[in-house]
Amino acid sequence: MILDSIRRAYVAGYKLGNLLIEGKTKQVYDLPENPGLALLQSKDRITAGDGLKAHDLAGKAAISNRTNAKVFEILNAAGLKTAFVKLAGETAFIARKCEMVPIEWVTRRLATGSFLKRHPGVEEGYRFSPPCQETFFKDDANHDPQWSEAQIIAAKFKLNGLTIGQDEVDIMRRMTLAVFEVLEKAWAARGCALIDMKIEFGVDSNGEILVSDIIDSDSWRLWPSGDKRLMKDKQVYRNLANVTQADLDTVKRNFEWVAEQLEHLAPAPNCLVVVLMGSPTDDEHCKKIAKCCKDLGVPCQLRVSSAHKGTEETLSIVADYEGSGAKVVFIAVAGRSNGLGPVLSGNTTYPVINCPPVRADNVTQDVWSSLNVPSGLGCTTVVYPEAAALAAAQIHALHDVVIWSRLRVKQLNNFVSLKLADKKIRELAL
Ligand SMILES: Nc1ncnc2c1ncn2[C@@H]1O[C@H](COP(=O)(O)OP(=O)(O)OP(=O)(O)O)[C@@H](O)[C@H]1O
Ligand SMILES: [Mg+2]
Repeated sequence: MILDSIRRAYVAGYKLGNLLIEGKTKQVYDLPENPGLALLQSKDRITAGDGLKAHDLAGKAAISNRTNAKVFEILNAAGLKTAFVKLAGETAFIARKCEMVPIEWVTRRLATGSFLKRHPGVEEGYRFSPPCQETFFKDDANHDPQWSEAQIIAAKFKLNGLTIGQDEVDIMRRMTLAVFEVLEKAWAARGCALIDMKIEFGVDSNGEILVSDIIDSDSWRLWPSGDKRLMKDKQVYRNLANVTQADLDTVKRNFEWVAEQLEHLAPAPNCLVVVLMGSPTDDEHCKKIAKCCKDLGVPCQLRVSSAHKGTEETLSIVADYEGSGAKVVFIAVAGRSNGLGPVLSGNTTYPVINCPPVRADNVTQDVWSSLNVPSGLGCTTVVYPEAAALAAAQIHALHDVVIWSRLRVKQLNNFVSLKLADKKIRELAL
């Protein structure tokens, strides 16, 4: 008895405080020794239809927890701002403690389910580009009514000191889209179509909007090979009229399959950017490129080789990379007359980006050696180190979903920081 309560008082070494909220599928505990954080404990329970249908399902908490952790690790690695911190044992995780925005943010790539009922005439499978976005007020008793943007703003939700207005709605709508697209791309690489999904947001004690709650097999429709008959999500459970133990076993097997697939969803990058500098005196410029590559999650190597003074060596470096079978983008950094980029470009099928370290006093002369290249060469030229890294990352993003996600979220974060800067300056002016 005493042992039991001690066990309950600690989860994975975290001392539990008060039970803050208990919902249908999880409990949220305060963590008195970790201010700003909370522990979310999953239950072995599956529910549907606002809780009208509900079953105990042994092992569900662990599968859901594993699924959620993997999804949020993918989102965090892409640079999205989320409440997920880390796993805490098999059935719990640590999150930033939030006041929750009581809205479900739904994104749909294909029309199906409730959308069809609300939009008679639209055929199942209608494809939205960009994805369709909808919002629903979280209100089980009234079956989560659909809300317009105006209704959300009119509600003036105040959460951890932040009032949800137009700016916040714009930010959450954009974040929702990025979450969907990142996960859609990741699943596509495993041959699965993400059809639609819902997420929730919270506001942490710093007033920051974070993707919160959980994302698991209850959050989306997932059709392997884009085939509805192969669905692996909770819709299988929703569709059951009478639920037998065999049905529950099938649902659990599907959820396990999803959790297993997620382990392979964000593979380590299998590509490289090689920054070749004509002289070691260009290394400052090259290190800036390497730093930007690192920030985008793109592996980068620096090499020194002069195409003018060591042509054979330059070609042997190219041969080494071609022989390795790696996916390589070369960035050529050569001052004065850039022979390096054009020589690389004429001797490899890998993409070559010139990024000459031009100075204000010589740019008009030197840049021409990178631009006015012989016919038959397809090297491109950028001037700034960040642009070189971004251009290389965009090439790799064509085959690497993790790099694609970083770029996608970078675009989102640019939008969010401009929006927040605009809000700040507007408020200053008052
Ligand atoms: N990071 C967080 N900080 C604080 N509360 C959170 C966090 N993430 C989720 N919650 C809240 O935990 C509660 C319990 O989750 P659960 O999903 O079991 O609720 P529920 O019964 O499904 O109700 P709901 O319809 O609100 O989701 C929810 O109210 C949810 O908003
Ligand atoms: Mg919930």
